[in-house]
Amino acid sequence: MSVKSLGHLTITTPKRDEWIEFAGNVLGMQIGPDKDGVTRVRLDERSYRLEFEDGDEEGLSRIGWEVPDAAGLEDVIERLEKDGLTVTRCSAEEAAARDVQGLAKTVDSSGFNLDFFYGQQKSIEPFISPRSANFVTENMGLGHAVLMTPVFEDALRFYTEVLGFRLSDTLRLGPSRVAFLRCNPRHHSVALIEAPEKGIHHFMVEVSEVDMVGRAHDACRDGGAGIMMDIGRHANDDMFSFYARTPSGFGLEYGHGGLLVDDSEWTVTEIAGPSLWGHRGSMV
Ligand SMILES: [Fe+2]
Repeated sequence: MSVKSLGHLTITTPKRDEWIEFAGNVLGMQIGPDKDGVTRVRLDERSYRLEFEDGDEEGLSRIGWEVPDAAGLEDVIERLEKDGLTVTRCSAEEAAARDVQGLAKTVDSSGFNLDFFYGQQKSIEPFISPRSANFVTENMGLGHAVLMTPVFEDALRFYTEVLGFRLSDTLRLGPSRVAFLRCNPRHHSVALIEAPEKGIHHFMVEVSEVDMVGRAHDACRDGGAGIMMDIGRHANDDMFSFYARTPSGFGLEYGHGGLLVDDSEWTVTEIAGPSLWGHRGSMV
């Protein structure tokens, strides 16, 4: 049994107020109540998909991978331990505090904090976007995260052999290798970039209408946030998107029309470049 989707991301930041403004008024996400220095953000029926927590340094503090059920969580724990990782099984109280039924934690060889969970709370209140955005999530999760890792080979082995991801395609960016990996029909839920230090390059959220991308782009241009890379279309997942610069400095890809992969028909290729056109600007 494999990981099902990217469930949620937690971002530590000294600029929580800026993140709240950016997520709500630029990206169209629903901002939840503040609790103990943490703001939870909804993109759909789930109780949250993003968390912003107070901290002195900017960064991605947790990646929450969703598994289908209790048996799936036990299976992942077994695989992680077999791979030599130390896994913490969280108490029922800790899981409940994160709105999930079961939760386990580990740190991967890149140094990322990974949560594995099942049974997240589904809200009975409708998702209401302040900018009429509708996010494409459901069985494909939050979107994707693109991670920089100094241990590329091991991270690729870990995601494929331990967590059960499948390689969609690869890319070379100068001296760096990039691997795009899927765990559901979304072309990639995680991509790994070979880099000197670990970090998040960007994460992606997908909306159901192309005009929602245009409106969010306008909101950035109107002063809501800086644009890291302008509108373009990716060569591998066909995503029509632009990249905003988040208050933390890393990227946020806002896209529409991502490719759905049919495992039975897919073959791995190496793409010659990241985009068919556009995406002008700086990757960093
Ligand atoms: Fe992306």
